[in-house]
Amino acid sequence: MAKGKKTVFFCQNCGYESVKWMGQCPGCQEWNTFVEESVSEQKTVGNRRQREPSRPVSLSDIQMEREERMMTGTEELDRVLGGGIVVGSLVLVGGDPGIGKSTLLLQVCRQLALAGKKVLYISGEESLRQIKLRAQRIGTFNDNLLLLCETNLTDIRKTAEQQKPDMMVIDSIQTMYNEEVSSAPGSVSQVRESTGILLQIAKGMGISIFIVGHVTKDGSVAGPRVLEHMVDTVLYFEGDRHASYRILRSVKNRFGSTNEIGVFEMRNEGLAEVKNPSEFMLNGKPEGASGSIVACSMEGTRPILIEVQALVCRSNFGIPRRTAAGTDFNRVNLLMAVLEKRGRMNLSEYDAYVNIAGGIKMTEPAIDLGILLAIASSCKDIVIPDKVVAFGEVGLSGEVRAVSMAQQRVKEAQKLGFETVILPKVCESAIEPADGIRLIYVSTIKEAVNAIQTGI
Ligand code: TYD
Ligand code: MG
Repeated sequence: MAKGKKTVFFCQNCGYESVKWMGQCPGCQEWNTFVEESVSEQKTVGNRRQREPSRPVSLSDIQMEREERMMTGTEELDRVLGGGIVVGSLVLVGGDPGIGKSTLLLQVCRQLALAGKKVLYISGEESLRQIKLRAQRIGTFNDNLLLLCETNLTDIRKTAEQQKPDMMVIDSIQTMYNEEVSSAPGSVSQVRESTGILLQIAKGMGISIFIVGHVTKDGSVAGPRVLEHMVDTVLYFEGDRHASYRILRSVKNRFGSTNEIGVFEMRNEGLAEVKNPSEFMLNGKPEGASGSIVACSMEGTRPILIEVQALVCRSNFGIPRRTAAGTDFNRVNLLMAVLEKRGRMNLSEYDAYVNIAGGIKMTEPAIDLGILLAIASSCKDIVIPDKVVAFGEVGLSGEVRAVSMAQQRVKEAQKLGFETVILPKVCESAIEPADGIRLIYVSTIKEAVNAIQTGI
């Protein structure tokens, strides 16, 4: 083998590095994900010495030249980013193929271009014609948006130097390559190196860069997991491909809070913002059916009301079947055990299916009370009235525990025309009584079940 070249094995799923091939990755426990890649050994010492070391500076000496953030004009995205795009930041947008990443970013480009910013959209996946076809569905564009089909990062850097755009989109990182790395585009070392170059462009020239990354199950393409620590912000675009809404979730953000979500709806003419997700999620809630209740979950700073459904029916086999869609399966099992032991409800002979309607995933403990009441309602065949919301965390001794931001949750329920809220007793002091909404404070699950049994 040529001197200065060596090969290592990378897990294509998580980027774990190993000198020999392994069947199972110790990092992510996936099977058969190791691929051999050659990496060039860095010719370090000599080169580094010639460079002047950078000098430390005090905070007050740092100059803020341009305005800090650019507003995208899409409120949902601005909020997820923590209040607009930070100049010179590197944002990774991950998500399944076909979920709408390219559409979202093209729309952002369009809006920034209309606001007078210079935007460069670089695609390594689609031809200019294909991009134009998509653009025609979205709306009218102006000349501030430039398109480029290119996958070579050296050329991309040159173009960026010439054009000096305010923002750049790389669609997608898996198609980009750096000539100095010999492995194929999409491999872990290639993706890592490419992101390194983009990081230099972003920080060095003050260009905000959005990188698209695919997440694939089979592990043939390096997932964006490897890059998560390199970029400033990681956004995940998720949702059921069969449903029209999409959720943009921030999982890492150096410039804002995480766990903010933005809700969009995929329409014929691109993605539209959903300003009031609760209304959207509650669409189609059945009336007068048992096993259904509205719960409230905080997503970042925003309360979202969702419908929790449960179906409890007699089991035909020795071992009852339990499933949970849209929430944590183990949590559902735990809540059923609490209901059995502390609520004196015999569930051992019943199958139970729990579902968060709309296909959204919710894991906040505040929806515990909603899940529990839905199960109780279905088991006893009690219809919970339509205008009831429940929230609260359930503990193992059957107590209903406090949740954060109770006041906001109550406000959201009131805004959407709900009349009754079942909530933890411990939250009483945090809530100002309001007209037009009845607050039922409960301290144990027994009280909560009684509340729905005796009719609200
Ligand atoms: P796309 O942005 O290409 O997804 P990604 O880049 O994440 O792979 O969008 C894919 C889907 O969105 C495609 O199946 C068609 C649909 N779509 C619409 O429904 N309406 C539209 O206006 C556009 C542009 C796309
Ligand atoms: Mg795409």
